[in-house]
Amino acid sequence: MLKDDIIRELEENRGVPLSGQYLADKYSVSRNAVWKTINQLKKSGYEIISGHNSGYYLAEENDIISEQGIRTALPEEDKALKIKVYDVIDSTNNEAKRMLISENIDRMLLVANQQTRGRGRLGRSFYSPADSGIYMSLIYRIPGGVKNPMMITMAAAVAVVRAIEKLTDIKPGIKWVNDIFVGDRKVCGILTEAVTDLETGMAENIVVGIGINVRKEDFPEELSNIASSLYVEDITRNRIIAGVVSNLLELFDTFDAAAFMPEYISHNIVVGKRVGYERAVKASGEADGSGINSTEYVKTIGVVKKVCDDGSLLVVSEDGTEDKIFTGEIKMGRNA
Ligand code: BTN
Repeated sequence: MLKDDIIRELEENRGVPLSGQYLADKYSVSRNAVWKTINQLKKSGYEIISGHNSGYYLAEENDIISEQGIRTALPEEDKALKIKVYDVIDSTNNEAKRMLISENIDRMLLVANQQTRGRGRLGRSFYSPADSGIYMSLIYRIPGGVKNPMMITMAAAVAVVRAIEKLTDIKPGIKWVNDIFVGDRKVCGILTEAVTDLETGMAENIVVGIGINVRKEDFPEELSNIASSLYVEDITRNRIIAGVVSNLLELFDTFDAAAFMPEYISHNIVVGKRVGYERAVKASGEADGSGINSTEYVKTIGVVKKVCDDGSLLVVSEDGTEDKIFTGEIKMGRNA
């Protein structure tokens, strides 16, 4: 489609004017067809500068998410990735899971400019307004099934941190398990879901959903003290998405926890912090007469001693006991 070709040309030549004649010759269309397409793109929000006799180019601040823009920013080895971009969708994770029900898909990226039902961990929602964030889900198959879902999510956190560090001057931190922080505010959340094949019973497909606040302001009241944005001016969302997804593919393709865990551990902001967490307590069925053994979770306060190589968290509780936490969430600071 001419529209897609022109978007790709503009993305690949940001700041460099391309003449109508050049585009017409290259795609064997009339200059009038080029002109009409450029006008359509301008109407749909692209900031295309058309100087007198100098040709068309994309303004530096143009920040529309597009398949062509993401692909242009991907490294050579990832250029063939399947990519789908939505202006509005309920949730890219939901869409990925819907797709997996009807199709056999691997290595596909879904991205939205806005989500109407963005989902977070533990049943929460994820604030996903238009034009100011990144909402992306990668569908990835792990032959033989997912052995340690926690490590997948940790690899995803490392992928985001690496992309932010490469593209900006920001020094992000990781709050165990997989929230990305700048200073004391969350700028990114990750929701990894495994999808089970009902015929084989294997959880071979994973959906890694990542939400990044890039230029979001006016957070809802309940988030105003805990969430923030990267607030980068000169980096497009397409480039951040491409950076994150290429890191994800590299980390997943060569899955080697021993190689990425030191980076995960060194970025953690939780060590030495006072945190609230839930301690798992085994309740014996004999003690209460029910005969059924169960696990209860008791709210506890402690100080994080370290993030262990297996991804768990070692916390020294106020009563002096050491707890190893594998799942759930910790609350820091005033929320502990
Ligand atoms: C969290 O912070 O609890 C996780 C947030 C994950 C949000 C992303 S945005 C893209 C993908 N689609 C969703 O509905 N959720 C994830």
